[in-house]
Amino acid sequence: MVKRIAVLTSGGDAPGMNAAIRAVVRKGIHHGFEVFGVQRGYEGVIQGDFKLMNFHSVGGIIQHGGTVLKTARSEAFKTAEGFDAALEQLKNHYIDYLVVIGGDGSMAGAIKLADAGIPTMVIPGTIDNDMPGTEYTVGFDTALNTVLEAVNKIRDTAASHERVAIVEVMGRSAGHIALMAGLACGAEAILLPEEPLDMDIICERLAKSHQRGKLYSIILVAEGVAKGYDIASQISARTDFQPHVTVLGYIQRGGNPTATDNIMASRMGAAAIDHILQDNVNQLIAWQKGQIVTLPYEEALKTKHGIDLSIYDLASILAR
Ligand code: ADP
Ligand code: F6P
Repeated sequence: MVKRIAVLTSGGDAPGMNAAIRAVVRKGIHHGFEVFGVQRGYEGVIQGDFKLMNFHSVGGIIQHGGTVLKTARSEAFKTAEGFDAALEQLKNHYIDYLVVIGGDGSMAGAIKLADAGIPTMVIPGTIDNDMPGTEYTVGFDTALNTVLEAVNKIRDTAASHERVAIVEVMGRSAGHIALMAGLACGAEAILLPEEPLDMDIICERLAKSHQRGKLYSIILVAEGVAKGYDIASQISARTDFQPHVTVLGYIQRGGNPTATDNIMASRMGAAAIDHILQDNVNQLIAWQKGQIVTLPYEEALKTKHGIDLSIYDLASILAR
């Protein structure tokens, strides 16, 4: 019997997901598996929406953001009935392995399926770069570059009008995007969920740099710490500045993937198949110390990928 692999994308879409799907499909077929694409994440599993893929099904997709398999945040899958329905569909379709491309929520789902007897593999895919066990998630580099490009444009206007510009970026519970984009664009202040927020210090810093002759500033705010508009009102209540706010929103989730994301996604997708071949399943494909490694889920969950505070300190020193 030919072994069957199903692949899905779940949670927030991330640039590079298509390259990961392509790698799983083509490497899987190359090694003699039948590979099925599942539409709309766990929602599609529940509905039995499995489509047999061939080499051509994933042609012409590597350069595009989003995910050709579509994605969903499936509340039904979190219920006992939904989960049982998903299990039944996987069994009825004789799926031997399920490859999940997504963030930590999607990994929680893959772990539950593994515990219920369906061998799974997880490829980290989220722009937030906040998954335990891995220092990199597919989509992060593209999102960073998108934020950088946007902030560079906003900076031109902020500088011309001598204004404080606040840019709110994604990161529900982690500030990786704000931190790394902040370092890359030379933001004057970076507000992260991981660091206590002291508005007095921020206002004092703005006033001092203004006194030194710096007539505009960029403040990057991770959405997980506060809304950009709330920070703007607090600043205007305490100072003479009238900050302008930009919420980047979905702009930073879409877009053509960078080379880094497509390379990581292709290598991680291929690694998932290599490990399935060795029956080394129920693993997160992770990036650690410059290498692709696999970690059993329980190991992955033990290692939180927190922000590097030395980068935060460096960004503050450099933004004078
Ligand atoms: P991400 O994978 O990007 O973190 P979510 O947290 O929205 O995104 O998770 C994606 C999907 O994974 C959810 O919609 C749900 O179907 C599933 N999921 C999330 N958490 C769990 C959980 N604790 N148990 C089972 N499934 C989960
Ligand atoms: O993909 C992760 C993420 O971008 C978070 O940073 C953000 O809070 C969330 O998704 C919002 O996504 P949606 O509005 O699609 O639920």
